[in-house]
Amino acid sequence: MTTQETIDLEQKYILQTYGRPPFVLESGDGVYLQDTDGKKYLDFVSGLSVNALGYNSSVIQDAANEQLGKLIHVSNLYHTIPAPQLAQLLCENSFADRAFFCNSGTESIEAALKFARKWGYKNFPDKPKNKIIALNNSFHGRTYGAISATGQPKYHKGFGPMLPNISFADLNDMESIEKLADSETVAIVLEPLQAEGGIHFADPEFLKGLRTLCDELKILLIFDEVQSGLLRTGKLFCYEHSGVTPDIMTLAKPLAGGLPIGATLMTQDVADAVEPGDHAATFGAHPVSCAVAIEVFKTLSAPDFVAGVQEKSDYLFGKLNEIKDKHAQVTEIRGKGLIAGIVIKDTPAADSMAFFRDKGILVCVAGPDVIRFLPPLVIDKEHIDEAVAVLDEFLS
Ligand SMILES: Cc1ncc(COP(=O)(O)O)c(C=O)c1O
Repeated sequence: MTTQETIDLEQKYILQTYGRPPFVLESGDGVYLQDTDGKKYLDFVSGLSVNALGYNSSVIQDAANEQLGKLIHVSNLYHTIPAPQLAQLLCENSFADRAFFCNSGTESIEAALKFARKWGYKNFPDKPKNKIIALNNSFHGRTYGAISATGQPKYHKGFGPMLPNISFADLNDMESIEKLADSETVAIVLEPLQAEGGIHFADPEFLKGLRTLCDELKILLIFDEVQSGLLRTGKLFCYEHSGVTPDIMTLAKPLAGGLPIGATLMTQDVADAVEPGDHAATFGAHPVSCAVAIEVFKTLSAPDFVAGVQEKSDYLFGKLNEIKDKHAQVTEIRGKGLIAGIVIKDTPAADSMAFFRDKGILVCVAGPDVIRFLPPLVIDKEHIDEAVAVLDEFLS
């Protein structure tokens, strides 16, 4: 089948919810992808933070093949081996005591919102405590709970009404939170790094303020680390930058290196409110995804791997700051670890995607004025040089 035939077929039969560029990706190796015409692309998107170990990784393939040969799926009515082992790794390396597994980021948010409300009803049976505070400019996914907590009206348009009792405050603005928080508030949900919203970090002081307020008013603090968790920002979990721990945290994208998985981690206090039958997912705790996630997690948390990512991050941000000094249209460099936002004025950031693509590099954007670099965590400095050289050319 030719490239055009594949695209024609897609346009005839697939619901058109995405605007895709006119090429078809067929295979990947390391940090490179190849299309059906044989063109190679250096990948600075990594499945939007999913393919942390790049493509064709033997870590992923070996773990998947081994598990595929043993057991692909059984109902969650039964015990399986990989899920509790993965849960142990996640809990022993984070604030959490318990994990719930699902299949995607948005599902991990649905679970977080449900568990929070259940905690509210269990612990405060005599009064309503089900209000949720979320943040403007946030992104939590596309199912109803998740879009209801997403503070960007464009995602709500045409789909109302949203879930009730969710209101919106501003990132890094404690006063706007205090105006909304009261004894009926059950949870505050936020991304410690607003990635889709333009690469904005929550200030450590803001997170500390939220933790104090949550403790005072008996509110659960929920961190959405679906995009920022698992070493993307240079620390295993994004919350480690501030030292503030949440009560619930969501993970997904890179957790199984490219296989579908989501996780909602929580303290024992939250777990105590959830009973058998309260929540479920047919494919959740999938043996193959969990078996792969165990090996991905071991790789990402190895001290040498972490140090390598931190070194590459210093290199990347050093280079990007040189670009900022050279080009007046670059107003800011945002990010940490291996997520970077190059904020530009006068040119739509979206124009960069076709320019980079022509030069054999895939990049994405985060809003109208931010070019987003989101490479696999296994890139080398020479790949950074290549992407930065094309950025330099784009801005010249
Ligand atoms: C912070 C955050 N939360 C949730 C989601 C939704 O994840 P998924 O697309 O796997 O449902 C995303 C996706 O980009 C995200 O960035």
